[in-house]
Amino acid sequence: MTRDIHGRQLTRDEIYDTVAPGDFQTLMNVDRYNKRTSAFDKIISATHDHFWDPLDTKYIDFTAPFNMERDYLVDPKLVAVARTSVWDELDEGKRVKLANLETWWSLSSVLHGEQGALSLSASLCNILRDPGAQEYAANQAREEARHVTAFARYVKARWGKPCAVGPALGGLLAEMVTSEFAWKKIVGMQLMVEGLAMGAFATFYTMGRDPLLVRLVQLAMTDEAFHHKFGKIWADRTIPKLDAAERDMIEDWAAQVFQTLLFNLASPEQKKPVYALVGLDWQRVQAAFMEAVTDDTIRQEMKESTNIFRVLVKTLLKAGIITKRTASIYATYVDVEELRTESDEMVGDAIAAEGIAGLKLINAGRHVFGQAAE
Ligand SMILES: [Fe+2]
Ligand SMILES: [Fe+2]
Repeated sequence: MTRDIHGRQLTRDEIYDTVAPGDFQTLMNVDRYNKRTSAFDKIISATHDHFWDPLDTKYIDFTAPFNMERDYLVDPKLVAVARTSVWDELDEGKRVKLANLETWWSLSSVLHGEQGALSLSASLCNILRDPGAQEYAANQAREEARHVTAFARYVKARWGKPCAVGPALGGLLAEMVTSEFAWKKIVGMQLMVEGLAMGAFATFYTMGRDPLLVRLVQLAMTDEAFHHKFGKIWADRTIPKLDAAERDMIEDWAAQVFQTLLFNLASPEQKKPVYALVGLDWQRVQAAFMEAVTDDTIRQEMKESTNIFRVLVKTLLKAGIITKRTASIYATYVDVEELRTESDEMVGDAIAAEGIAGLKLINAGRHVFGQAAE
């Protein structure tokens, strides 16, 4: 189903061809089954190497204790509110409480993002026409399902239940999951959200003080690195073949998503429940934020290689989704030219590789010849 710019399906490579949502009859076309791309076979078969089971203590143990009243789950340097005047008013006990609630917010956002990735991959399965592309999407859905299980377990172990999704993130995820356009799903999820997740998980891996959290994000990264690659393959095969109007449409949408995420992901207005729990007025926190976090502060923070927004800009840049038209939006915060010359290595790839090496050892112990680990 190739549509014009108004239909906005933008298929440039047959392997991403789609059927209309709900058009199951076309999927039973007898000539379709043997037209299967091998482009994703390596990613699909690699799933056995990095198999892990969140319910099996050989991989991760969610009963590991942590003193939530005394200890920070992550280095408090990560907590944005620690840089505001509000922090100075709090005693140590309240600081620990607030910092850990900020982590509750972040991990809950991750959990909602994982649900988005699960639902989105399943929806790709329904509209992609190529059986190999469908198998990739089904495989990703299976991996995202274990992330939903794992992050839900972690949140349950530390706080009981997750925090409601912030309106901005919830709106974006819903737009991507329910879109009928494969490009919007892939740019939004596999490139942007997965890129952001790799940055966030790499940050938790480096700055985490709860060994259970550090283990969890590394396990998730062993899967996410592949999901991000799928997005890269799409971009390499699609972006250079689009006409200017089509590329502009993707570029503008991506810039809009970037700004929504940048302005909202850490905004006190999105996190009202967190401040209410420590008796702080979110509007006062917001005002303290405006004072302490300037464009210049953001620019400084984005020099850090694992900064989630830096990772996001680099992903878009390397995928050819940022041109002169929107470069100025990003240039306010990051040196676009410097990013362009950086290597293609994705932040977190090394952490994921180390995690996979460990998983191979665990999985080798439970393999029975001729039987897959799953
Ligand atoms: Fe995931
Ligand atoms: Fe993912």
